[in-house]
Amino acid sequence: MNLQVKSFKEYQDVYDYSVIEPEKFWAEIAENFLWRKKWDRVLDWNFTEPNIKWFSGAKFNITENCLDRHLDTLGDKPAIIWESNDPEENHRILTYKQLHQKVCQFAHVLQNNGAKKGDRICIYMPMVPELAIAVLACARIGAIHSVVFGGFSAQSIADRIIDAECNVVITADGGFRGNKETPLKTVIDDALVQCRSVKKVIVLTRSRTPVSMLKGRDVWWEDEIKKVETSGQSDFPAVETDAEDMLFILYTSGSTGKPKGVVHTCGGYMVYTGYTFANVFQYQPGEVHFCTADIGWITGHSYIVYGPLSQGATALMFEGIPTWPDAGRMWDVVQKHKVNILYTAPTAIRSLMSFGDKPLEGKDLSSLTKLGSVGEPINEEAWHWFDDKIGRKKCPIADTWWQTENGGHMISPICNVTPTKPGYATLPLPGIQPVLVDENGKVIEGNGVSGNLCIKFPWPGMLRTTYGDHERCRTTYFATYENMYFTGDGCLRDEDGYYKITGRVDDVLNVSGHRIGTAEVENAINMHSDVVESAVVGYPHDIKGQGVYAYVVCPNMHNDDELTRKDITMTVSRIIGPIAKPDKIQFVSGLPKTRSGKIMRRILRKIAEGETSNLGDTSTLLDPAIVEEIKEGAL
Ligand code: PRX
Repeated sequence: MNLQVKSFKEYQDVYDYSVIEPEKFWAEIAENFLWRKKWDRVLDWNFTEPNIKWFSGAKFNITENCLDRHLDTLGDKPAIIWESNDPEENHRILTYKQLHQKVCQFAHVLQNNGAKKGDRICIYMPMVPELAIAVLACARIGAIHSVVFGGFSAQSIADRIIDAECNVVITADGGFRGNKETPLKTVIDDALVQCRSVKKVIVLTRSRTPVSMLKGRDVWWEDEIKKVETSGQSDFPAVETDAEDMLFILYTSGSTGKPKGVVHTCGGYMVYTGYTFANVFQYQPGEVHFCTADIGWITGHSYIVYGPLSQGATALMFEGIPTWPDAGRMWDVVQKHKVNILYTAPTAIRSLMSFGDKPLEGKDLSSLTKLGSVGEPINEEAWHWFDDKIGRKKCPIADTWWQTENGGHMISPICNVTPTKPGYATLPLPGIQPVLVDENGKVIEGNGVSGNLCIKFPWPGMLRTTYGDHERCRTTYFATYENMYFTGDGCLRDEDGYYKITGRVDDVLNVSGHRIGTAEVENAINMHSDVVESAVVGYPHDIKGQGVYAYVVCPNMHNDDELTRKDITMTVSRIIGPIAKPDKIQFVSGLPKTRSGKIMRRILRKIAEGETSNLGDTSTLLDPAIVEEIKEGAL
């Protein structure tokens, strides 16, 4: 079966087939990939344990699909185009041959430094091609990568390294993003004070900031590559993996304080990202695909690295941010590299929209043919601006709904196939069976309804477990509703059967498309020496989608309010990272609690949203007067 459907009628037929004959459907999709040995069974599953296996028995290596198989036909074509943060710095192009060679070299480096199949390797790097090379080299030797986004603190990195028991860390001296420089190696050094499992740190030169280098532990990337070159090590035959071997761990926030390591496996993830990339974006040979996400997030894993490369596509990788040195930068990048597909986030669109039309003047966006959005609900105003100003009303917008746990797009228009509707993720891709359920787990049938979004049948890209804690995977995703994967999202299905995601129904915030657990932020705030307790909720934010609003009980402040606010913010930065900093901190003398001690977040959410009347029933509160105080002090 072709990975791409070409008409809406074909979509409907293929969709029906995928529901009636899911195993046949996925086996036919998987035929499009390169296997050393085909699977013994397409699918084994139950959602109770859960136990999900796709294509088990199949032997292959994902990098042979992403690199080797393209060498004869696309060897001299660009695999990665890299654009620097600094507009003055030359861009870099890596052809498939060059990327293959560099991945092989770095696979040798990993092996020379003691890494082997099954090891966990933490990657904390800036958005440079070497990040993609590091990821692919891990996959080539069968090691499991755990990429940590550059905006996380030393403590967060340490937690992740300890949880996964990583033995190797790959980092850089520092990284650039806009006008900021992050001292990545120093952050790693701080993290490693706590991490006994790490034996080697491989450090790439990027910012040339001074760094400490410990003999026996720390080595320079460039020196290690030189050793490989002088010793004549060149090709690195890919290590054979089973379809169900782990490919990577990616940590994501949930409703408890501790982030969980979502585990994806080699075979299903490859098939799913390759399939969704080809189909949703209707990728055509030669097109330049620009996904603005960081490889530190799932979007970067799936739609900068694995999806595009398995399809022989050209992926543009951008080190910088859309608004630096000015709000025209993204459009300069599109123009310079004649980008065809632009895949970005609503928060970036809203931020660029806020600068008006001026940054667009004189920019040639005529190369664009397809647009995509991901990470959070896109409001209609932003959708229309994207459609009108960027797509010039000629480009379909794929509003792709999916999650870290899903591996790839789940509900999304297929470009030029599915009629779109502003703000709607539209229809499930073939192979995906969404259902809406009420609080009691009863499936809500028909159209013009809303409920909690679940998926009732497995798909190859779904998570298999949460690293080191399978029970957590079960309780988080498979225990809320029997025999279903629960997404944590609310959703409506309109009269046409189109899906619109309305946002999280759990205690997870979505700030600028980044998932942040309220419990995680509360834990960090509570670590400040003056804080007794806190409650964190989201509130609507014009650019970020949601902002972080913290109610903090701090009866004996050491400093004045303003300074304490800054100290609390700093504490959150230290514990989690700058991405989780509260936007607003309101000091309160107590939190609204029920007699059983449960915080009434509903009330706090309403106050944060600016609602002062209509707070609902407050009679069950232990101390209703506290609500009045909080209302009066609302920010
Ligand atoms: O609430 C949904 C929202 O982002 C959550 C997943 O976050 P994360 O795992 O970090 O992955 C983001 C990138 C895939 C979802 O539970 N979300 C993601 N895409 C959309 C969305 N909400 C509405 N529309 C979308 N297109």
